[in-house]
Amino acid sequence: MEIYLDTANLEEIKEAAAWGVLDGVTTNPSILAAARRDPEAVIKEIAGCVTGKVWCQATGDTADEMVEQGCRMNEWAEQAVIKLPMTAAGLAAATRLVRQGIEVNMTLVYSLPQVLLAAKAGVAYISPYVGRIDDLGANGRRFIVEAIDTLQKLGSATKVIAASIRSPQVVVDLATVGVHAVTMPSAALQAMLRSPLTDIGLAGFQADWNGLQSALST
Ligand code: E4P
Repeated sequence: MEIYLDTANLEEIKEAAAWGVLDGVTTNPSILAAARRDPEAVIKEIAGCVTGKVWCQATGDTADEMVEQGCRMNEWAEQAVIKLPMTAAGLAAATRLVRQGIEVNMTLVYSLPQVLLAAKAGVAYISPYVGRIDDLGANGRRFIVEAIDTLQKLGSATKVIAASIRSPQVVVDLATVGVHAVTMPSAALQAMLRSPLTDIGLAGFQADWNGLQSALST
């Protein structure tokens, strides 16, 4: 399962990248807006911190605008790859970028008919927003299961990145149903690693080791 960090915060990215388990970084216009800096500079800096993909989302009202911006973003870094929204303009832009050999992730995917259209366009990934589906009282995990099942039955190579993930348990739940990838904020990735029992256990081991060293040196 691929793991992406959903942030433009360089300190968070550097820390997670050092763990060696990161497949890249996802951003969106809101994440880049929160950085309050030139998006091109931010994406280039992110690309300097990770070896994997760096997802940038093209904006615009028309397919032409999205294609133009997507092509520019794709040049920002070797690992830069393009997210497009699941709209008519976004789908038309996706078809064109895929034909140009640019890797595309259709984002804001919320229904199986959208999954079918994105797969038909040949995009590499789709991003359903699990947390936002759950927020509405629907079942994000169930949608991921149905999306994966649909793609498998079509024989599609399109992968599912489960997005809008807020807790480690959701990651585990999605991993067990075979999700291809997940993207989450730093807090959720940190929570995957940390356990108070690990900390308590380690403190005990360290104290015993220190005690042994003292005993041996006296
Ligand atoms: C996906 O790539 C999105 O950037 C992201 O996961 C959205 O998450 P949110 O619902 O926490 O904003």
